[in-house]
Parts: sequence; structure tokens; C-alpha cells
Amino acid sequence: MRTQVAIIGAGPAGLLLGHILRRAGVDFVLLEQKSREYVLGRVRAGVLEQGSVDILRELGLDADLAERGLTHHGIHLQFAGQRHHLDFVDLVGRTVTVYGQQALVRHLLAEHDRAGSDIRFETAGVDPHGLDTDTPFVTTDAGERIDCEIVVGADGYHGVCRPAIPGIQALERSYPYAWLGIMAEVAPSTDDLIYALHPEGFAMHSMRSPEVSRLYLQVDPDESVDDWSDARIWEALQTRLGVPGWTLHEGEITEKSITPMRSFVASTLEYGRLFLAGDAGHIVPPTGAKGLNSAIADVALLGRALAAHFGGDDAPLKGYSNSALARQWKVQQFSQWMTEMLHVHREVSDPSARAFRYRSQLGQLEYTTGSRNAQAALAEQYAGLPF
Ligand code: FAD
Ligand code: DHB
Repeated sequence: MRTQVAIIGAGPAGLLLGHILRRAGVDFVLLEQKSREYVLGRVRAGVLEQGSVDILRELGLDADLAERGLTHHGIHLQFAGQRHHLDFVDLVGRTVTVYGQQALVRHLLAEHDRAGSDIRFETAGVDPHGLDTDTPFVTTDAGERIDCEIVVGADGYHGVCRPAIPGIQALERSYPYAWLGIMAEVAPSTDDLIYALHPEGFAMHSMRSPEVSRLYLQVDPDESVDDWSDARIWEALQTRLGVPGWTLHEGEITEKSITPMRSFVASTLEYGRLFLAGDAGHIVPPTGAKGLNSAIADVALLGRALAAHFGGDDAPLKGYSNSALARQWKVQQFSQWMTEMLHVHREVSDPSARAFRYRSQLGQLEYTTGSRNAQAALAEQYAGLPF
């Protein structure tokens, strides 16, 4: 078969790009290796920047978001037993919206169903070819061949597209801690999200709805969810999030998983007729809530560039990789900064150096919460850089 764009991967990047192309009148096929149920069942990110919300609204993809998204005016930073609120609206005139990636994927998929998009789940052995020619094509284990003009690798960190770029390099680092995330059937105990540094480790309180809480704990990367009974999780959350006069309500834990933390940026997002978007090109540690938002920012740029390309103007597509990576490096810096400020660095073996590190993090947090300029810098980046 023949199409204009073969999109590989039906995560948020691939699904959203499909909608942008459909509106621009560009044909596409979306190939996904997992089943529809698997894609719908994945629990991941939860915070949308204002720019991400604006794009979904512009595309008319915000019906569910408008109904179920929870608008937040700021976050709480907690350390040394005290909670400090940063008011993003007052600081930078922007908000963020709590809306689960799972809900976003469900809605994007439902809208594709309505539009009759060609999305092929459980497609094994997707393999891109001829990327440095004018006639690229994609083959699958089922013996299918899809001829196209452009291939988009929206296939995540473990996908096949990035490795198909000869000589591609990356800058990366891993962190000596991980996040244990839970979903709990209990009303959130907070208005805005709480990010807390505690001597026993980082903890965060987020949410998915007025009835469902999402919480995270810093754990060691080699720990297993089997090491964490529900009772142990709640005890750690009570200790790390507790402040006088406030109660953390407990409920049934319905999901539990451990996510490693990594920073990763590929040297390029383009090779001939192949373009990478989202986690295929970069990964951030989750502390700044930037993974999903970066995927949305990439496809907003790429979608516009592809529409221009098929309209006869190639300039935006030629600039895509550089523009997306320039924005991404600012996001990387912010995510790394938030991560290092809020986690306990148990990997520092010398006790004095470890204590120094912790105490200087408290100084950093005191400065960040005490200076309006510092608060505004955090708010500007958390609520999202322009794209
Ligand atoms: P993905 O969502 O990874 O989608 C890629 C798609 O490509 C997948 O459906 C995959 O099955 C498919 N695919 C892969 N290989 C192939 C192939 N060979 N052929 C066909 N299809 C293929 N971010 C945050 O901001 N906060 C969080 O709390 C957070 N938690 C996370 C937890 C986990 C476990 C993970 C993995 C990520 C988390 N993230 C979080 C990051 C965020 O979810 C990602 O940045 C976001 O999913 C990126 O979207 P994407 O579409 O680029 O990639
Ligand atoms: C959520 C995840 C994040 O990484 C974050 O920084 C804030 C919220 C969430 O899953 O709700």
C-alpha cells in the first residue's frame, strides 16, 4: 500500500501527530506493535502544560479534557517539615492541568475511531527502509510493505527508528534512584500537587480525579514492587509527606510500578525522510512532569512542518530537529534541576559529603521558595516554555 506518512508507535506522540496530519489533509498509517488494550492500559504521566492544553483545544481534541482535567494554579514545595505554595497564576499568569496520559490516549484513540483512521495494532517486526532516498518504505513481519514519503519514529525509547539512523549518538545519564508510583482509590488530600524532600527520600502527591490519588516515592533503582507492601508504602508516604495539622488519607492501592530515571537526548531527530518525535528522541526524569509535554511539543512542531512540506514549503521540516532539540535541552536542564534538588543522594558514600549535599538542597529550596524571581523561573518552566 501507499501513504504519505508512516507513523510508527501509537503513544501520545504518534496518536496526536495523526490528528494534526488528518486536519492538514495528509494521509497516514499508524503502526503499533502492542495491542489496543495494552496501549489503553498503560498508566504514565499526569500533568499537561498550558501549551499542551492549548494545542489540544486548537485541534478540537479537548472535550474529555475540558470535562475531566483539573486546572491547577501552582504546586507546593515541601522541605524541613514545611509546605510552601507557588502560585503560577500570580507569578507568570499560567496554569497547568492534571489529566492522565491514559485518559489522553483513550480520547485520541476514540477520535481516530470516529474519523476512521488507519491504525494497525499488534503489528510485529516494523522495519523502516530507504530512509536516505525519496522512496522510503516500511515492512512488517506479516509481509506487508507500506510505501510512503515520510517515516515518523514515534516509537518511544525502545523503538526501532532511532537505531535506524546511521552513526546517531546520544548524551545521557541515569540517576541512582527510581520512582515507585501508586494509584489509590481515595480523594486527594491536597489541592495542588506536593513535591517533598524528606531525609528518607522524595515523595509526591498528585491525583487523577476528585476520587483518585496518584502518589510517588523515591526508591532505590534495584528495588522491586514486591519489596513494597501497601502498608509499607502508606507508612513511607505518611512520613515523607506529613506536616503538622494535615492528614494524608489512605485508600485501596489499585496500581503499583517502579520507573527508572534517566536523562537522554539523541544527537539528531532527523535522517533523510525519517523524523523522530517524543521518547524516541529524548527522555527526562519525571520530576518536572515533562515527558508527555515534550512529546506533544515535538509533534506540534513536526505536524506543522509536515503540513508545510506537503504544501510545497520544506523549510520548517529542515529546521525541525534543531528547533525541537533546542527546546528539549532547556527542558532537560529543568528536569535535572528539579530532580537533583528534590531527591536524597544516598549514592554519596562519604557521610559528611552526603550531609553537605542534603543541607545545600535545603538552601536551594529556601532560596527557590523565598525569592519571587526564583519562584517565577520555576513557574515559567513548569507551566511550559513556548513552542
Ligand atoms: P510512548 O508513550 O513510549 O509510545 C511509543 C509507542 O510506540 C508505544 O505504544 C510502543 O508500544 C510503540 N512502539 C515501540 N516500538 C515499536 C515498534 N518497533 N513498532 C511499532 N510500535 C512500537 N512522564 C511524566 O512526565 N511523568 C510521569 O510520571 C511519567 N511516568 C512514566 C512512567 C513510565 C513507566 C514510562 C515508560 C514513562 C513515563 N513518563 C512520565 C514519560 C511519558 O509517559 C512519556 O514521555 C510519553 O509516553 C512519551 O510519549 P511517546 O508517544 O513519545 O512514547
Ligand atoms: C505526575 C507525574 C509527574 O512526573 C509529575 O512531575 C507530576 C505529576 C502524575 O503522574 O500525576
